[in-house]
Amino acid sequence: MTIGIYFATTTGKTEDIAERLHEQLGSANPPKDLADLSDLSEFNQLDGIICGIPTWNTGADTERSGTAWDNMLDDISDLNLTGKKVAIFGLGDSSTYTENFCDAMEELHSYFVKAGATMVGYVSKSGYTFDDSKSAIGDKFCGLPLDEDSESDLTDQRLEAWANQLKSEISGL
Ligand SMILES: Cc1cc2nc3c(=O)[nH]c(=O)nc-3n(C[C@H](O)[C@H](O)[C@H](O)COP(=O)(O)O)c2cc1C
Repeated sequence: MTIGIYFATTTGKTEDIAERLHEQLGSANPPKDLADLSDLSEFNQLDGIICGIPTWNTGADTERSGTAWDNMLDDISDLNLTGKKVAIFGLGDSSTYTENFCDAMEELHSYFVKAGATMVGYVSKSGYTFDDSKSAIGDKFCGLPLDEDSESDLTDQRLEAWANQLKSEISGL
């Protein structure tokens, strides 16, 4: 089983988390910066895909990330990812941007759903303090939200718990 980790970043925090997650998971491929890819055809060769996405376009309905992910969304939905497991982690700031905490995760999630992927890595909202998030669906987030701006002291334990969750949800990890 081959698992890829992909991220996009503006100030480096999502890249740092991708590296830390890779250390936790061990058997996944080294993280790749989406900005270095010309297309997403390599997704077809993978059994599982883990994606890191920050939110920069506050309050936007579309292109919420403000990173290379925004230009790849249509390319994702053109793929056939049936049978592949996909998990998303998001970087945001639950204090300053509490009405839009990690909004970009849900947009990316919706395009992978269109591509037929099996989405995993959902996380309970409990333990987070925020007013609103497009990525909160029912009592769960559609991925792992991380806040390196206001709650970096919680990142290690959130990341470790999520890595263990992914090991149980994605065979081959
Ligand atoms: C201008 C600006 C807008 C932002 N908008 C949001 C937002 O809407 N929601 C959110 O959760 N975080 C928001 N953030 C916080 C970033 O997502 C956060 O700092 C993140 O860790 C950046 O990741 P990166 O370093 O990988 O780009 C914003 C930050 C700035 C400076």
